Amino acid sequence: MKQMDWDYLVVVALLLTGLYVAITGLVMDLFGFPRFLWHNYVGYAWVVLGGVHLIFNWPRVTAYVKRRFRSERGPTLSAQPKPASATTSRRWFLASILTAVGGFVLGRLLPESQLIPDFSGEGMANLPEGDVGAFYHQWSKPGYARSLGTLFSWGSQPARYKTYPHPKQIYLPAPPGYQGLSVEEAIARRRSRRNYAGDSLSLTEISGLLYAASGITDPARGFRAAPSAGALYPIETYAVVHNVAEMEPGLYHYNVANHALEQLRLGDLRTEITVAGIGQEMLAQAQVCFVLSAIFQRTRWKYRQRTYRYVQLEAGHIGQNLYLAATSMGLGACAVGAFLDDDLNDLLGVDGEEEAALYIIAVGKV
Ligand SMILES: Cc1cc2nc3c(=O)[nH]c(=O)nc-3n(C[C@H](O)[C@H](O)[C@H](O)COP(=O)(O)O)c2cc1C
Repeated sequence: MKQMDWDYLVVVALLLTGLYVAITGLVMDLFGFPRFLWHNYVGYAWVVLGGVHLIFNWPRVTAYVKRRFRSERGPTLSAQPKPASATTSRRWFLASILTAVGGFVLGRLLPESQLIPDFSGEGMANLPEGDVGAFYHQWSKPGYARSLGTLFSWGSQPARYKTYPHPKQIYLPAPPGYQGLSVEEAIARRRSRRNYAGDSLSLTEISGLLYAASGITDPARGFRAAPSAGALYPIETYAVVHNVAEMEPGLYHYNVANHALEQLRLGDLRTEITVAGIGQEMLAQAQVCFVLSAIFQRTRWKYRQRTYRYVQLEAGHIGQNLYLAATSMGLGACAVGAFLDDDLNDLLGVDGEEEAALYIIAVGKV
């Protein structure tokens, strides 16, 4: 085979690998995958092929550069760029206007229709009547055709951390670290405990619990103890403190970046949280009740209709970390999913739409 034949093969391989990289890149973007189907390796192969193609064509490249260099020193009349004709510039102008209007229509008008689930669509028949969750589950399934809709805007990315204007911060001590219980033992011993003794929890214990829940374990990247889709961290953690040494009872927000508790409201909240928890007395008995909420837009702008699945899963991860951390410290914990949403949202001071309470984890001495 001649060098030219090899070069044709390289050009074909360049086109195919380029197409593969473009398509897998698009799929990665649509679904928010951090890695996908050899995308990187084919991308590297594409670069190597590009290098081989350049080597094969080096004489032509150098000849072209020399020609350009000469023409720039002493341009001939024929080398002068032609002025754009009136029709060409008009066509370009019209195309620009059409592109701008098209972009506006796609970006602004279509998202609304995209947000309305098609309950008559594929897989929607035979679902239990009235179970919106089952409909949601079907509707939020990814599909290549449906995912084209995800090209449209689902809003912008909000701030990574929730901030309050000038709250009093209680900086937490370092978490206690290894407590002498292996993860296997903690898993084996974990139980939902609903009866708590009267002693107070220490700040170090609160620190260990919050660190296990949502603490930053990789400061360089801001990654946390529990996994999060796209590392977007939609879950906020609040502590309803009843009986913790060196802390006044009240409502606190966990400031993840500072590993601190921000004082939002002081007072005895035992009745309020028990009422919100549909009368479950352990919520008043526990030394602290952690409430997990979600700021949905943190995940929505990227994962669109998958958002509600992801935030619930993430609350589950954090809840289990709290359970295991409490077990390893010899404390008792109990998850609570049965609560009056509006009452609990009011207690936290969140609107229940942009941000809503998802889960309570009561923790106390046993
Ligand atoms: C999503 C979820 C919601 C729960 N809600 C409540 C609740 O509202 N009240 C309660 O006493 N326990 C609640 N639990 C705890 C379960 O009752 C408990 O996990 C189950 O009985 C198994 O016991 P174990 O945790 O000791 O293994 C909940 C657990 C989960 C996972």
